[in-house]
Amino acid sequence: MNTDVIITKNISKTYGTGDIKVHALRHTNINIKRGDYIAIIGPSGSGKSTFMNLIGCLDKPSSGKLFIDGTDVSQLNENQLATIRREKIGFIFQKYNLIPTLNALENVSLSTSFAGVKNKDRLKRAEKLLGMVDLSKRMLHKPSEMSGGEQQRVAIARALSNDPSIILADEPTGNVDTKSGNRIMGILEDINNKGETVIIVTHDPNIAKRAKRILKIQDGVVSEENA
Ligand SMILES: Nc1ncnc2c1ncn2[C@@H]1O[C@H](COP(=O)(O)OP(=O)(O)O)[C@@H](O)[C@H]1O
Ligand SMILES: [Mg+2]
Repeated sequence: MNTDVIITKNISKTYGTGDIKVHALRHTNINIKRGDYIAIIGPSGSGKSTFMNLIGCLDKPSSGKLFIDGTDVSQLNENQLATIRREKIGFIFQKYNLIPTLNALENVSLSTSFAGVKNKDRLKRAEKLLGMVDLSKRMLHKPSEMSGGEQQRVAIARALSNDPSIILADEPTGNVDTKSGNRIMGILEDINNKGETVIIVTHDPNIAKRAKRILKIQDGVVSEENA
């Protein structure tokens, strides 16, 4: 079995056309092994989120091939991409992206409702995941009733609800204090220790150096940062 869970073959991403063309990612060749723990660093606007959105199957490369678990996803349609996301990928965003009208339990159990899991099992699983991120006492709270760090932990529990093998976190500690940030990183590292692939974008060098491997992006060009 191939141990590379993500392979990019010369992928590029260009936004817009003509004079307003932006080359957000250029000719990228990267292999990522199953169980790896990677930090992506680089200045604002360098292409970090573009890279994450591509490997998270939220967007498609303009050219090149992208393999997730051996499947070339660069050729898939929207429905097929949604299936890959649901089966393999957990995405955590800087601004949590929780649904404001739903409590923590509902936010976490919602995504499994599309995955054909029974109601009772969904809630049980959501409870377990919220326990794992230490939020058993906040299950019935809505996002506005929780701190930033707590909301991000709900978002992590939600990202884990379909048992993904690839966890992508785009600046997961960007909106929380240092203490909450460390707690969030601890949870992501526990997940990595269980064998899942974890990729995080960060501005914080102290967070980046916790990873096993650092990739640097500058003007859309990805390179290996040697430790
Ligand atoms: N949807 C979009 N349409 C046009 N340009 C975009 C879009 N998304 C990002 N960009 C541009 O692509 C470049 C890379 O953006 P992004 O990947 O968000 O960078 P980062 O996450 O490193 O801050 C930037 O110049 C940004 O303005
Ligand atoms: Mg970004």
